[in-house]
Amino acid sequence: MSDIRLEKMNSTHIDDLAEIERACFSEPWSREGIAAELSNPNAVFYVAVQDGKAVGYGGMHHIVDVCYIANIAVLPEARRCGIGKKLLTALCDYAKEAGAAEITLEVRQSNRAAIDLYVKMGFETVGKRKDFYKKPTEDANIMTKNICNI
Ligand SMILES: CC(C)(COP(=O)(O)OP(=O)(O)OC[C@H]1O[C@@H](n2cnc3c(N)ncnc32)[C@H](O)[C@@H]1OP(=O)(O)O)[C@@H](O)C(=O)NCCC(=O)NCCS
Repeated sequence: MSDIRLEKMNSTHIDDLAEIERACFSEPWSREGIAAELSNPNAVFYVAVQDGKAVGYGGMHHIVDVCYIANIAVLPEARRCGIGKKLLTALCDYAKEAGAAEITLEVRQSNRAAIDLYVKMGFETVGKRKDFYKKPTEDANIMTKNICNI
């Protein structure tokens, strides 16, 4: 496998990220929705690039002292190579350097791959949101990581 490089999201990534969304989610973010994050002052998005093509990305919103992970996704053919962990590590490092107290996220309660990744990175399940997801309808686990534990 050739090297994976992390880049801050820019306008040249948008088409690849929309493709990743369609490959990963039943309700993908639109191209416009992703592009809107470029002008969001609270957004921090990293893109994993391999051979000039985006193969994964992770995004977060930083609001006061809480960082909210909005999304993390890796193309199916690029999974289990450490890209998800690399993206999440970059987001956690950003949160720590920015002085946030906590990182939080929602994840489908059946999403074993993502939950295992989050647990490995120090996140704990602290609650549920009933029927948070559609297509199919499913509860979300709320998971958080205290920055002091980084
Ligand atoms: C979740 C996701 C981002 C993980 O990306 P990835 O690049 O495959 O993850 P990594 O290779 O960095 O894996 C890191 C750790 O996560 C866990 N993990 C990843 N995929 C897993 C799987 N299919 N089953 C169980 N654990 C898994 C493991 O602990 C793994 O460590 P290991 O490989 O040493 O065992 C990827 O599966 C994905 O894009 N899923 C679809 C989108 C999604 O559900 N995003 C989360 C939204 S909340």
